[in-house]
Amino acid sequence: MTAALTCLQPDMENIQDIFKHRGSLFLTVEGTDGSGKSTQAELLKKKLEPYGETILVQEPGTTELGTQLRRMLLRLDGPMQACHVAELMLFLTARVQLMHEIIYPALNRGAHVICDRGIGSTIAYQCCGTSVSYSLTSAVLKALENHLWRDATHSFTRRMIVVCDVPTEVAKSRMQGKKLDHWESQDDGFKARVRHAFRNLHDLLPEHHVVHVD
Ligand code: TYD
Repeated sequence: MTAALTCLQPDMENIQDIFKHRGSLFLTVEGTDGSGKSTQAELLKKKLEPYGETILVQEPGTTELGTQLRRMLLRLDGPMQACHVAELMLFLTARVQLMHEIIYPALNRGAHVICDRGIGSTIAYQCCGTSVSYSLTSAVLKALENHLWRDATHSFTRRMIVVCDVPTEVAKSRMQGKKLDHWESQDDGFKARVRHAFRNLHDLLPEHHVVHVD
């Protein structure tokens, strides 16, 4: 966490400014499986709580619909078939519902939101991992972003994507003994492409403010 806070320091100053202006903070924490992003997300939540209501949500998940989709999406090796574009759409469905049901109302009442995964994971896993074309993925993401944020009534929301990065071997060793889900059991090539995407997320999502944490 020390590393995370050091890296975030310049932006933490901006966060203070946001608090002064009663704005909300929308942080998305991203990274490969085993990168420690969920631990970082929990720590960030504790750090932000003194500054106001702070909620931590998870993608896919948190809502009833999202939780059901999560179960499907993490067990894609069963009898149910989903092509890669269908997978993309299912992740986005979970996101739309989470945004509509929880994130958007929270930002509108001035709360801070920390999201365990989001748009960065879609680019890294669907586009670079499973090879759904970048043009399709980015076009759909852009259209959805415009739709989801079209009537943002909260005064000012500072958005930031925090990427946690660890070497693939470290991530692998952390997951030893764990029952792996569909995404965690992908081959080394897939994992290397996903990590590479996260490391280059600032180029893949040029309109977003991306902070990298070692
Ligand atoms: P995660 O919650 O990190 O799993 P865990 O409970 O094991 O920590 O994420 C679930 C998986 O979903 C993860 O392997 C990445 C994948 N995912 C995508 O492929 N695309 C997406 O858009 C999102 C949000 C997640």
